[in-house]
Amino acid sequence: MRRIKVSRGAPYRQAMSRQHKRFLLYALLSAVAFGGYYWLYAQPIDPLAVPFTEHETYMRDGGSLARVKSEQSYDWREAPFANKITSYIPLPTANPRQLPPVQSDRFSETRAQRKQRERRRVAVRDEFKHSWDSYKRFAWAQDELRPVSAQGEESFGGWGATLVDSLDTLWIMGLRDEFNEAVEAVASIDFGKTNLATISVFETTIRYLGGLLSAFDMSQRPILLKKAVQLGEMLYRAFDTTNNTPLGWLHVERTKEEGRSAFHAENNICFACLGSLTMEFTRLAQITLEPKYYDVVARISILMDRAQDTTKIPGLWPTSVNAAKEEFNQSRTFSIGALADSTYEYFPKMHALLGGIEPVYKKLYHDSAAMMDKYMLFRPMVPDNAHGEDMLLCGDASTFSEGEVQLEPTMQHLTCFIGGMFGLAGRLFSDPHHLDLGAKLTKGCIYTYAAMPTGIMPEIFEMVPCVSRTSCPWNRTVWEEGVMRHYGSADIEDIKGALRQYRIPLGFTNIRDKRYLLRPEAIESVFVMYRITGDRQYLDDAWNMFTSVVTASRTRYGNGQVLDVTFVPPKAPGRGFQPSDRVGNGPLTHEENIENKMESFWTAETLKYFYLIFSTPDMISLDDWVFNTEAHPFRRPKPQG
Ligand SMILES: *[C@@H]1O[C@H](CO)[C@@H](O)[C@H](O)[C@H]1NC(C)=O
Ligand SMILES: *[C@@H]1O[C@H](CO)[C@@H](O)[C@H](O)[C@H]1NC(C)=O
Repeated sequence: MRRIKVSRGAPYRQAMSRQHKRFLLYALLSAVAFGGYYWLYAQPIDPLAVPFTEHETYMRDGGSLARVKSEQSYDWREAPFANKITSYIPLPTANPRQLPPVQSDRFSETRAQRKQRERRRVAVRDEFKHSWDSYKRFAWAQDELRPVSAQGEESFGGWGATLVDSLDTLWIMGLRDEFNEAVEAVASIDFGKTNLATISVFETTIRYLGGLLSAFDMSQRPILLKKAVQLGEMLYRAFDTTNNTPLGWLHVERTKEEGRSAFHAENNICFACLGSLTMEFTRLAQITLEPKYYDVVARISILMDRAQDTTKIPGLWPTSVNAAKEEFNQSRTFSIGALADSTYEYFPKMHALLGGIEPVYKKLYHDSAAMMDKYMLFRPMVPDNAHGEDMLLCGDASTFSEGEVQLEPTMQHLTCFIGGMFGLAGRLFSDPHHLDLGAKLTKGCIYTYAAMPTGIMPEIFEMVPCVSRTSCPWNRTVWEEGVMRHYGSADIEDIKGALRQYRIPLGFTNIRDKRYLLRPEAIESVFVMYRITGDRQYLDDAWNMFTSVVTASRTRYGNGQVLDVTFVPPKAPGRGFQPSDRVGNGPLTHEENIENKMESFWTAETLKYFYLIFSTPDMISLDDWVFNTEAHPFRRPKPQG
């Protein structure tokens, strides 16, 4: 350039060269932009090798959400927050600790094993597509698909529960066109209004907010963060109560009223509703760098910490608590299943999500897990020692006189998450005893799946607890006594007839709820234990569970809830079952055994865990991600330097 002699033509040439350079710059920029777009979203997906990309978060890069377009009929930032919080508990920002590895370093497979695993992975994805294609055709952007009648159903606020809940599954399965299509539909969700008068704060948080945050963590699409903030601002109003503890249900229109006062805090709220908003609000605070989202859930953790030793079983919290009075000592019934589950689940997960720099979660976990171990875990007496030797279930506990705790040997499908919880905590806190409990609890779920005629665990059942965990010989008399206690008969012949009629397998004393609602908790624990141990037996267990579930639940348009897991339909019509075999008004055919209902967790959770266990172990590694209770993985922080 410097050698070009200045002449009359020079300004012209310089202008040309500027134009030329600008053109080159534009060409280069568009090539990079297109290439980036192509690389991220449009590249053809190899069905056996799903690409996965690492990103830094959007806000940290100085992104602005104001530019991202999404019309809302109401801006929740303008809704009143009457009981103002004057100072925020800051989000811990110290350098995250290097926590012990969660995943095994021993994953090896032969070529034949790899082929088999890949076949299974593709089979899971095909099952997902079966439901997803019908959802697109018949229920697009509605909350749920009705899998028998091929209709939509608005059951979760009318914001597309299945759509939002399944975003990260689409991403993980490499269904990038479907993901893009879904994101476009998500962009036009209007969180300003709903078809319901009140919404469940807990469900809306774990499904919608969790789903949006996880899909954002994976794809970095700004619109997903924008939607998360829009929804987060609504849910934040659930903390506008007399003491800033959250409401269980938010009345959407009343919340908008100008000049209203703070809501009265709940006198009776389920423990899960109180304590399992923590991960979602923490992740929202981490991504947006807004301390107020962390503040409201950190307050609950302080409250739970203070109350932990004041309850009727110190260490545990009952299933319902008084948030208004901040008292946890009224109820006498304790469970790790419905109404409590995810609050316990979140203690070790919060430890991971905060990189181990907030000590309260380790304490909350340790003191509660010790009491579960002491009072709730039991070894069921089963006839087949080959399977029975090393397993545990988790029942409920209650106390009616000081210092005396009764175990109720009832197990819920919901409680099956507990194996994964003990396993994860066993790794994060380097506790081999808890790792062992995690494996045994997971085995309990695998066993009770396999013990049922369909190969699927029922929603709620009971077994006989052994006195000792180390030795548990089968004693038929003891089992029959247990059955008689439940069916209230003293005649053993009656019992035999009842067992035949109700199809109660050996070892079970009753099946209080015979349904399988397409729930994920058992495969969740199997997946976590597989990633922790690398034990290939879990792959076969998972495959047996998957094929059993598909066989019993498949409909023409998707998968439906199974009404009776003890019922196996006859192979040929007219053979096997006769109308006289009907139990009550129970089913006689495959179709009669399926309810017209497919909750969003089928595609959000159950099929995601099945897919992940048959993927390579670096796909959503538990050392990089931590799952919320709706199977939405959030990115874990990494130590700097
Ligand atoms: C619960 O604890 C509070 C405060 O410590 C106490 O006043 C109240 O009597 C207790 N209630 C029960 C049912 O034990
Ligand atoms: C089985 O249990 C019954 C009732 O508790 C008891 O009488 C019997 O001795 C037990 N049988 C064995 C083999 O332990």
